[in-house]
Amino acid sequence: MIPSGLVPSDREVRVRAPGKVNLSLRVGALEADGYHCLATIFQAVSLYEEVIARPSTKLRVTVSGQQADLVPTDLTNLALQAAQLLAAHTGAEPAVHLHLHKGVPVAGGMAGGSADAAAALVACDALWGTGVPRDELVELAARLGSDVPFPLTGHTAIGTGRGQLLTPAMSRGEYHWAFAIRAEGLSTARVFGVFDELIAGAIRLEPEADRALMQALRAGDAHGLGRALHNDLQHAALELVPALAEPLAVAEDAGALGVLISGSGPTVAALARSRQHALVIAAAITAAGVADQVMTAVGPVPGARVIQGTRMRTADGAADDSD
Ligand code: C5P
Repeated sequence: MIPSGLVPSDREVRVRAPGKVNLSLRVGALEADGYHCLATIFQAVSLYEEVIARPSTKLRVTVSGQQADLVPTDLTNLALQAAQLLAAHTGAEPAVHLHLHKGVPVAGGMAGGSADAAAALVACDALWGTGVPRDELVELAARLGSDVPFPLTGHTAIGTGRGQLLTPAMSRGEYHWAFAIRAEGLSTARVFGVFDELIAGAIRLEPEADRALMQALRAGDAHGLGRALHNDLQHAALELVPALAEPLAVAEDAGALGVLISGSGPTVAALARSRQHALVIAAAITAAGVADQVMTAVGPVPGARVIQGTRMRTADGAADDSD
């Protein structure tokens, strides 16, 4: 996964952060700040973003992996914003070369960009030796986006507020997923906009609604979890991309315990009975030709962590700080 031409040595920090699926996403009223209040349950899944941070004379980002061409490399890139925010917070020089290796669908409703930002915070903190405590990193993450704190903490968590206020949730066992991925992403803001048009009236969050889901997670009951999966944004995502009904139906026909659109979509998530069954569902989606790509994963998994943190040299032995 290391970009070509680079070998690990002692000036590189490599961090891995997971994507997520919202097991439940309940959306409340639009607030004055332009955000909706949410009650959601996140599960981190084993599709990973890798961020490699290495010294540079300036702030720059490069991208590899799936759909890399869809990722902006200007200052709208959330990983660059994360590096800038950490630098401003700690007084460090905002100079780093971040390389993002994409493993989570881009603009897919699985928080890939947020995982990049979470991983960039951890990577820059390690590279710069700024030693920011995890709870402070989580606060910085929340300033970058509603979905950024969760890939830092990982596992299973309840999200409230805009989705950024996290409480760990009990979960037993492993849950196997098949994902139907669409090449063209969906804008989160646009999906929330259609949600508002469809609802057009007062709505009230019912935090108690997910009692059965939490009980299933505590018991390690995949069938119970499948029955309780819920996404208030699903109608809005289907309104924007009606063809998403196809992978939902194919996964259901293949015996999925539950199917839903992940977050604001357009990725379709199907809960399977086992790893083998996830492969069967993925094969059915591929055979039906109703997705651009399929992936399987397991959850829950831990949050952003350094998987290598040493100095780095290019393959020809020169330090990579000339850029
Ligand atoms: O927080 P983030 O930048 O990821 O949100 C992207 C957009 O999604 C926001 O600008 C807003 O339009 C919408 N959103 C929302 N309510 C939330 C989270 C996001 O309306 N709780």
